[in-house]
Amino acid sequence: MKILLIGASGTIGKKLQENLSQRHEIVTAGRNSGDIRVDISAVESIKNLFEQLSGIDACICTAGSGYQGNFQTMTEADLLPSLKGKLLGQVNVVLIGQHFLNENGSFTVTSGILADDPAKNSACGALISGALNSFVFAASLELKREIRINAVSPGIVEDSFEQYGHEFPGFNPVPMTKVINAYLKSVEGVSNGQILKVYG
Ligand SMILES: NC(=O)c1ccc[n+]([C@@H]2O[C@H](COP(=O)([O-])OP(=O)(O)OC[C@H]3O[C@@H](n4cnc5c(N)ncnc54)[C@H](OP(=O)(O)O)[C@@H]3O)[C@@H](O)[C@H]2O)c1
Repeated sequence: MKILLIGASGTIGKKLQENLSQRHEIVTAGRNSGDIRVDISAVESIKNLFEQLSGIDACICTAGSGYQGNFQTMTEADLLPSLKGKLLGQVNVVLIGQHFLNENGSFTVTSGILADDPAKNSACGALISGALNSFVFAASLELKREIRINAVSPGIVEDSFEQYGHEFPGFNPVPMTKVINAYLKSVEGVSNGQILKVYG
């Protein structure tokens, strides 16, 4: 398969690229990294990305993040960059990319455990991941040409635990191999409209 991986330089993206490149042709993309530059928070940039590509069978997005901050002082301005990036960015990758993907292709977006199990200061991440999961369910009913879509919803992966673990007390670190397997199930398997939860 020819696979577009947006966010390939990240903690999850790096490991995913390592695995997928053993069997597939991978095109990587990111704001400051990858074969092609894209900022998923900008619609024109996403259009430009897909217009440069042809013959993509699978598009995986592991780009974006959710704002972490005190709920009592949280403002719209705090939320907007994450909403434009991780939420609308991935939604727009699907809305635009659907016209470019090969028949029988697939989208895999990344949500996260906060949709189901929010931690302190994580209302933004919870909002984004919950919305993404609902979008995936609806999009799976609408996409044409046998194109599938799933979300991988990771817990805090073990590779990130040293950096972020203290912000998620009581959360179990999730083995990266399990997270990678969820992406493989989405891309190489037959799942459609699924939220592939890897919560440890
Ligand atoms: N790590 C975890 O434990 C964990 C747990 C649950 C959910 N998640 C979710 O999984 C996804 C990946 O996490 P991660 O830890 O691998 O993230 P990460 O290490 O911060 O990597 C993010 C990647 O996305 C790219 N990127 C960021 N914003 C972008 C934008 N606007 N346009 C294009 N590319 C962009 C970055 O590259 P450039 O800087 O070059 O753009 C980088 O390659 C995120 O949605 C995160 O919320 C992660």
